[in-house]
Amino acid sequence: MIPYQIIEKKSRGDVLNDGEIRDFINGYTDGSIPDYQMSALLMAIFIRGMNTDETLSLTRCMLESGERMDFGALPGFIADKHSTGGVGDKISILLAPIMAVLGVYIPMISGRGLGHSGGTLDKLESIPGFNVNLSLEEWRKLVMEEHVGLIGQTGTICPADKKIYSLRDVTATVRSIPLISASIMSKKIAEGIQGLVLDVKTGNGAFMQSLDDSRTLAKSLVHIGNGYGIKTTALITDMNQPLGKAIGNWFEIRESVLGLQGDGPEDVMEITYALGAEILQMANPDLSREEAIKRQKKTISDGSAFEKLLKIVALQGGDPKVLENMETYPKTRYRESIKANQSGYLTHIDTMAMGFAGIQLGAGRRVISDRIDYSSGMYIHKRLGEKVDAGAEVLTLYSNDENALKEVKKQLSTSLSFTDSPAAIPPLIVEKIQ
Ligand code: URA
Repeated sequence: MIPYQIIEKKSRGDVLNDGEIRDFINGYTDGSIPDYQMSALLMAIFIRGMNTDETLSLTRCMLESGERMDFGALPGFIADKHSTGGVGDKISILLAPIMAVLGVYIPMISGRGLGHSGGTLDKLESIPGFNVNLSLEEWRKLVMEEHVGLIGQTGTICPADKKIYSLRDVTATVRSIPLISASIMSKKIAEGIQGLVLDVKTGNGAFMQSLDDSRTLAKSLVHIGNGYGIKTTALITDMNQPLGKAIGNWFEIRESVLGLQGDGPEDVMEITYALGAEILQMANPDLSREEAIKRQKKTISDGSAFEKLLKIVALQGGDPKVLENMETYPKTRYRESIKANQSGYLTHIDTMAMGFAGIQLGAGRRVISDRIDYSSGMYIHKRLGEKVDAGAEVLTLYSNDENALKEVKKQLSTSLSFTDSPAAIPPLIVEKIQ
């Protein structure tokens, strides 16, 4: 196999066969194909797309680049949730402990920040000491004993996705239905789960901005999941504004903790419960949606979901004390506010610009080797549709890089639009695909 010929074939828009995809993925995973050739193929796929068979082959090759878990006969349903990526999306951090308390086994493999969107692994690593690189045995033990273990792609689980994911993050090749499908589904199938709920984002802060593209992505993911015998559903949810108020790794952990303590933003809780209800109803088809939501709310009101998070953090090497006393977390040196320059109804937020601004503030990577500043990020204080008075604080930015902070302040000042009368606001949960 000559990598050049495969890149050329895809760049012409021709269909790659299973063997070609396999050779390329295996070659990249074992190091014989360099980053620059993989980047070229990713860009060709990004521009030319892949058909269903190619997408299935890519998923299978990425899955088979590593091991596949088999939890055998556990006395409960084994499931997971995954998001296609957005801004301020911290749902996994709330949902995993809630589901674990309710008896579901959650062997969660997550990703790092990708493009403008944050990643669960980076968020978890903002908790001092938290180890997302457990051995497979440690992870399996945690899932079996505590019902939940939170790790990333490893040298043994989806190593191909681990390498390709980092490359996509910095080569503008994220927004592609086959690449997203194979990346997400290879990880999820490798987990050995029985049920999967997908949160497919749509809107100006999502990789798929139009509802049509989001639907196509949701159908592609659901098709692959069901094809592997996993009960799979997808909720298409709105990403025309950040989810919750916090953007940035530690800020999002903090907001998740508040959610588990009963003080979370409404939208974050609504999506958490909706996705959780999907999982609980897959586990028990006789359960009503109302009852599924009630059971989740109880894990918040009785403190059991927060207790579970503290336990998992401690068992994965993290410092639970910082979650119990969040004000002790290191603060950034600099902070800036963005205020509304006119009175009116907030009708547009450039959500993607906020994601990229987060990276500039230090919360994400510009190149693979960048180190994240976990304390940096921002808070958005207003929601779409809200009436805002001129001079009211809409965004607060935090960074240890004073120049970046000034630059971001300038950029984001034009990221919000106001109108004199209220405009229609998109629903939070748009539709379900199954
Ligand atoms: N999440 C993933 O794991 N992969 C993607 O490509 C996008 C979101």
